[in-house]
Amino acid sequence: MFSKTLLLFLIVFFVPYSYEQQSEKFFRKDYKYFEEFESFYKMHTVPQSWMESKRICELEGGILWHPDTDAEANAFLTFWNETKPKVPWVWVGLSDLLAEGVFVTVDNKPVSEVYNFWEPDTPDDGEGGEDCVYMYLKDGPGYLDDDKCNDRINFVCKKTLKSLEWNYQCNMPYLEYSYNKDNGKCYKLHTTPLNWTEAYAMCQYEQSSLAVINNNREAYYLAHLAESTPKPRSRTKYSRGIYHVGFHNRFNEGWRTVKGTKLNVDRNAWYDNYEPDGDSFGQCGSMFFNGRLVDTDCETKCFFICEHEVESPKHVVSNFMDILQPYFGGGFEY
Ligand SMILES: *[C@@H]1O[C@H](CO)[C@@H](O)[C@H](O)[C@H]1NC(C)=O
Ligand SMILES: *[C@@H]1O[C@H](CO)[C@@H](O)[C@H](O)[C@H]1NC(C)=O
Repeated sequence: MFSKTLLLFLIVFFVPYSYEQQSEKFFRKDYKYFEEFESFYKMHTVPQSWMESKRICELEGGILWHPDTDAEANAFLTFWNETKPKVPWVWVGLSDLLAEGVFVTVDNKPVSEVYNFWEPDTPDDGEGGEDCVYMYLKDGPGYLDDDKCNDRINFVCKKTLKSLEWNYQCNMPYLEYSYNKDNGKCYKLHTTPLNWTEAYAMCQYEQSSLAVINNNREAYYLAHLAESTPKPRSRTKYSRGIYHVGFHNRFNEGWRTVKGTKLNVDRNAWYDNYEPDGDSFGQCGSMFFNGRLVDTDCETKCFFICEHEVESPKHVVSNFMDILQPYFGGGFEY
């Protein structure tokens, strides 16, 4: 009795989830940790507009980087020069999009309170349309300058250690994913309607993929997830009752899962017990609300489901064991 109570007590009060991850200082493999700034950084090398860069950083759980101090700017410039010396510019999280001439960071700090080192005679709002700020590596390293927001350049995302939270069951930094023991996977149902391509990208940004349905059990679980998830109102026109999932025939090779394998399901896994041919009117894969598969036009906007395979679901248990060791001398009495 005593040990059960103690165990519960330990689990509830002594497993400081986020702090424990914070002491491990790990966010994602593709982010580098800088001890002196207690933050993680990632240079994205596929150029994007400023808005899209900002959006992608948020999807990954961070913000579009701007240096807070000269020291941070210089440390990053050195790292940038060592790792990506051919990248001449990056967007930073500074703009005057909301009020001309009032430059603020994406987290609403005035530029005068952060790194504020401009190329001479800038910002100049050149040709009346430069509202977004980028930083130079060459020809004046560290200078800020304003540019057209729709230009596509590289960008850097930042995640502070303080803001890091950890989903232990799913072993990832995204708390909205929930673990399903029967399938051994974590899932998130997104209720912002997107087309199939955008949905595919969105899952990737969260280190996941569109959910793959391999069998009845998974279909049943996802149908249940679809039914039990609250559906917010949306102004976007979208198809209700269907959910994008991870299969397609976009390469005209027959139905394939997003993992690259042939879709291997019975005919009766499909809506109406009929396997569609995946022609140009419906080359993307979705799930009907009852768990049956259905082909959709890739442009169709609807809700969608991402899955994350759990590499080491034992993480939580092993931590409990570590904590309990001193109390139970290695034995684990339930
Ligand atoms: C980048 O590295 C090169 C070679 O090490 C060096 O000459 C140059 O000054 C560096 N530039 C910056 C901006 O740090
Ligand atoms: C999905 O939406 C994006 C953004 O609106 C668009 O660029 C893309 O072409 C669309 N994809 C498909 C397959 O319709």
